Amino acid sequence: MSTTAKFLTILLGLVLTFIASADGDRTTKFSNQGSVANTRHNMTQRQSSGGGPAGITMDQYRSDYGEVCVYCHTPHGASASGAGARLPLWNRTIVPTTYQVYSALNTSTMTQPVTQPGVNSLACLSCHDGQTAIDSIINMPGSGRYLASQASSTNIGFLSTWSNPSGLGPSVHANMVECMTCHSSSAGVVGAGATDFSAFLIGTDLRNDHPVGVRYPANGSNADFKSTTATFSNIRFFDTNGNSRPDKNEIRLYDTGEGFEVECATCHDPHGVPSGGPGSQFNPTFLRVSNSSSTLCLACHTK
Ligand code: HEC
Ligand code: HEC
Ligand code: HEC
Ligand code: HEC
Ligand code: HEC
Repeated sequence: MSTTAKFLTILLGLVLTFIASADGDRTTKFSNQGSVANTRHNMTQRQSSGGGPAGITMDQYRSDYGEVCVYCHTPHGASASGAGARLPLWNRTIVPTTYQVYSALNTSTMTQPVTQPGVNSLACLSCHDGQTAIDSIINMPGSGRYLASQASSTNIGFLSTWSNPSGLGPSVHANMVECMTCHSSSAGVVGAGATDFSAFLIGTDLRNDHPVGVRYPANGSNADFKSTTATFSNIRFFDTNGNSRPDKNEIRLYDTGEGFEVECATCHDPHGVPSGGPGSQFNPTFLRVSNSSSTLCLACHTK
């Protein structure tokens, strides 16, 4: 082999290793312990908090507000209209959308009515359907950065008028589809080394996802389903510790006007749920209950 050929072979090897490293869902750098700040729902991506690359890589794609909660909540000036008004101090833009729902599949086995996702799903979909920029919020930290119109807007352009103190410039505000430029197995050299987030991008077609907006059968009415054991406000739940309150590790159904339904937050808590006592690692993928041995599924399905 000539020296040039050898060099090219080595170079090809390097490129392949580089590209291959973009594949797959790498283990997260976050500890998944203690707080939402130590999970993938920390959009600030401070190296110090354990996850993410140096700010400079990511700052071109989303504003680093330097506060974990603010990408989802604000203490003041929260969303007061539409779906956002029915979520706790909600700070995100929720774009009115008609989703393709599970019932469109017409599986002959479905017995329960399915409607459009309720607010406890729309909260998640405000990032996970890929339509809205991750940093598109109504009330940004600092004064004079409140934009009420943002609550019902699909416009993310206004963000560009805000000078992001942490970044190279505020001109790009990526939604989850755009994050895929790097965070996918096909990202190529630009995104080499970034975790593959493809499975996290739910999109607006929910037909390949566990049904949400689906009504849970009334207790005793359907032998295929277990009976809930408590109700608290608009939440009905499986009260495993008998304290009459829906704890974060208890599977729940939400009534937002169409009866008690399964929504994203039925199975997931976006802040993380300790798998054991306080301080223990969170259940994987923000699940309220670990799904080892299908425990989560069997909370509802009698199978
Ligand atoms: C220019 C490429 C690039 C783009 C675009 C990009 N990222 Fe990243 N991101 C990286 C790299 C590289 C890492 C470090 C390797 C890793 O952990 O995946 C990373 C890591 C992360 C992590 C930490 C992963 C973990 O569990 O440790 C999060 C969270 C994240 N990115 C979110 C985002 C979001 C949200 C967007 C879109 C707004 C985005 N990224 C866009 C390159 C990029
Ligand atoms: C990635 C988005 C996201 C982030 C970041 C986030 N939250 Fe939440 N939070 C939610 C959603 C969604 C709900 C509603 C859950 C539901 O539908 O039951 C919620 C609900 C809450 C609630 C009321 C219900 C409950 O679960 O106790 C409190 C309090 C709360 N969040 C506090 C915080 C604080 C404090 C932070 C920052 C340390 C934070 N959240 C960060 C998405 C987020
Ligand atoms: C502010 C935007 C935002 C909101 C709101 C949000 N997410 Fe996420 N979520 C993300 C991003 C971005 C990722 C991809 C991981 C990353 O960036 O590191 C992610 C990752 C995840 C993961 C994978 C975590 C892992 O460790 O493998 C799950 C599960 C998830 N989200 C569920 C939810 C659910 C359920 C809700 C609503 C209760 C929700 N998310 C609300 C932005 C959001
Ligand atoms: C009936 C329970 C249930 C509901 C409802 C549910 N999920 Fe999940 N979700 C799960 C389970 C279980 C996993 C873990 C799958 C795995 O590890 O392969 C998961 C995984 C995920 C992941 C990580 C990607 C993956 O495939 O592993 C994301 C992101 C996510 N869910 C978001 C959502 C969103 C957004 C909604 C609402 C549209 C939702 N989930 C509704 C049970 C549920
Ligand atoms: C909170 C309760 C709940 C949990 C937890 C839950 N499901 Fe469901 N699931 C339902 C309801 C309600 C339906 C709608 C049933 C119907 O209409 O017949 C459903 C529907 C389904 C269907 C579709 C049936 C059809 O006829 O097309 C499947 C498959 C399924 N669930 C599997 C799972 C799996 C797997 C898990 C665990 C990852 C799980 N479910 C967790 C409540 C739940």
